[in-house]
Amino acid sequence: MIIRKTPAEIEKMRVAGAAVAWCLDEIVRRIVPGKTTTLDIDRIAEELIRSHGWVSSFKNYRGYPNTVCVAVNEEVVHGIPGDRVLEAGDIVGIDLGIAVDGWHADAALTIAVGGKASKEAERLLRVTKEALYKGIEQARPGKHLSDIGHAIQKHVELHGFSVVRDLVGHGIGQSLHEDPQVPNYGKPGRGIRLEEGMTLAIEPMVNAGGYAVETLGDSWTVVSKDRSLSAHFEHTVAIRRDGPDILTLLPVGGLSR
Ligand code: MF3
Ligand code: CO
Repeated sequence: MIIRKTPAEIEKMRVAGAAVAWCLDEIVRRIVPGKTTTLDIDRIAEELIRSHGWVSSFKNYRGYPNTVCVAVNEEVVHGIPGDRVLEAGDIVGIDLGIAVDGWHADAALTIAVGGKASKEAERLLRVTKEALYKGIEQARPGKHLSDIGHAIQKHVELHGFSVVRDLVGHGIGQSLHEDPQVPNYGKPGRGIRLEEGMTLAIEPMVNAGGYAVETLGDSWTVVSKDRSLSAHFEHTVAIRRDGPDILTLLPVGGLSR
């Protein structure tokens, strides 16, 4: 069942979305190549969330032990923070969900540690981010659900990369995961018709090699099967009468007004 949100409810999700965007920005600024561990990132997020009275959407979700998911290089998503030190040239995906007053927002980005990676890694980051925005562009009334995934897949494959099939985006609201599932691939014009008030977390995961993935022994960390580099970008988006409304953005002038 898809739960459509009123404009007032969408504004509540935008508050959570701003919190997510601000935390991600803060985390990225604080990463020091050769020093910061993936668990440091988790601690930063936990403290920022705690000090504002927000709630982590991920901690204890289906037994997930941490506040952020951190995916380094060939890790696709759901990496559990630990003692791994981030080195210059690594690409690191940071995925964060926050609830404010019971309304969730979820976003992810992948960055090059130290601001620079290999040419191929930087191309992977650029294409994955572009693909997210191509998908978001389809999130408007009258389009079909699969138009989102189709636009993402087309852009990714045009550049010779592959879209992960085994993990999908999702509806989001008073729960982190709601209907519908949002695949990042597919034929156009299939699935439900998109309607005003639907709120979706759109999150392409893109491998430099093949699309196959596997889950490691910790039963969370998803890696590319061929161990090729992988990138992940995500926004929470509301479908409005006039088109997509990205909720996980920093408000101009900061969080307080
Ligand atoms: N953004 C991911 C998702 O939407 C992360 C959630 S996994 C969790 O599925 F278990 F940590 F919550
Ligand atoms: Co998500």
